[in-house]
Amino acid sequence: MEQNESFIPYVGKIIDIRQETPDVKTFRVVGLDGKKLFNHIPGQCAMLIVPGVGESMISITSSPTLEEYMEFSIKKCGCVTEFLHSAEVGQEICVRGPIGNGFPVEGALKGKDILVIAGGIGIAPVHSVVNYMMDKRENYGRIQVIYGSRSKADLVRLDEMQNVWMKQPNCSINLTIDREEEGWDGHVGFVPPFVTECNPDPSMTVIMCGPPILIHLSLDALKKLGFKDTQIFTTMEMRMKCGIGKCGRCNIGDKFVCKDGPVFSFDQLGELPPEY
Ligand SMILES: Cc1cc2nc3c(=O)[nH]c(=O)nc-3n(C[C@H](O)[C@H](O)[C@H](O)COP(=O)(O)OP(=O)(O)OC[C@H]3O[C@@H](n4cnc5c(N)ncnc54)[C@H](O)[C@@H]3O)c2cc1C
Ligand code: FES
Repeated sequence: MEQNESFIPYVGKIIDIRQETPDVKTFRVVGLDGKKLFNHIPGQCAMLIVPGVGESMISITSSPTLEEYMEFSIKKCGCVTEFLHSAEVGQEICVRGPIGNGFPVEGALKGKDILVIAGGIGIAPVHSVVNYMMDKRENYGRIQVIYGSRSKADLVRLDEMQNVWMKQPNCSINLTIDREEEGWDGHVGFVPPFVTECNPDPSMTVIMCGPPILIHLSLDALKKLGFKDTQIFTTMEMRMKCGIGKCGRCNIGDKFVCKDGPVFSFDQLGELPPEY
C-alpha cells in the first residue's frame, strides 16, 4: 500500500448488522461497487467517518482472508457509535484505512504457539488474528485463547468461539465472566488471575487487547509465569484524532500509537502510559 492511501476516505455501505451483545454490534461493510474496500493486516484499523456526526477509529475484526467484505465490531459509547448502532442495512459511511501496523502474523508470530488474551470489546482486533491463523493453520502451532467479559451476554462472538474455534485441532478456548450467573457453568473471575490459573506455557507468543487494567495486570501475571517483554504483543487503544501521526494526540514517549502502532511488543514500549 502507498503510504498516502490511508488518507483517502472511501465510501462504503453497510450490508449486514448483527447484535453481538447488549451494546456491541458487528457491521459488514463493502464499497458501493459491492467489493471489499481495501486489504489489511490483522490488527489494523480504519477510521469510520459519518459526515455531520464525527469519526471513530475501529479495528477491522474480520480476517484479511475474507475476500468479499470487512467487518467491524463496535461498542456503543458516544456520538459516532450511537449513530452506527441506530443505522440500518444500506447506510452509507466513509471509511479511511488501513491504519496502523497490525500484528506480525507473517513475522514474529509465524510458526509459534500463540496465546491470545482479551477482555470485552478487546476481542475485536485479535478476532481477526485468530481467524487468520485458523485459515492458515499449517503456519502456526497451538492456539490458546483466554477471553473474559462482564457476563455471558457480554462475551462477543461466543457462538463462533463455541461452535467453530473450540472444534479446531490444537486449539483451546478458556472463557470467563466476572460474576456467577444462572446458565453459566464455566469459569468465573477476572481475566488476569485466570491467566495465572490457566498456567500457559511461557514459550508461547502472546497477543492481547482489552481495557488498561486488564493489560496491566495480565502483563504482571505473564511475567510471573516467566514470559518476557519480547514475547508479548498488545494493541493500544489510545484516544486518537487524525490517525496519521499529525495531531500529537496518541503518543507514548516518542512513539505515536496511530503511526508506529497500535501493535507493540512490550520491549518496544518500554513503559505503559500513565492511564495503564
Ligand atoms: C486503535 C483503536 C482501535 C479501536 N477499536 C475499536 C473497536 O474495534 N471497536 C470499538 O467499539 N471501539 C474501538 N475503539 C474505541 C473507539 O474508537 C471509541 O469507542 C470511539 O471512537 C468512540 O466514539 P464515539 O463518537 O461513539 O464516542 P465519543 O462521543 O467520542 O466518546 C464517548 C465515550 O467514549 C470514550 N472514548 C472515546 N474514545 C475512546 C477510546 N479510544 N478509548 C476509550 N474510551 C474512549 C469517551 O471518553 C467518552 O466517555 C478503538 C480505538 C482505537 C484507538
Ligand atoms: S492520532 Fe493524531 S498523531 Fe496519532
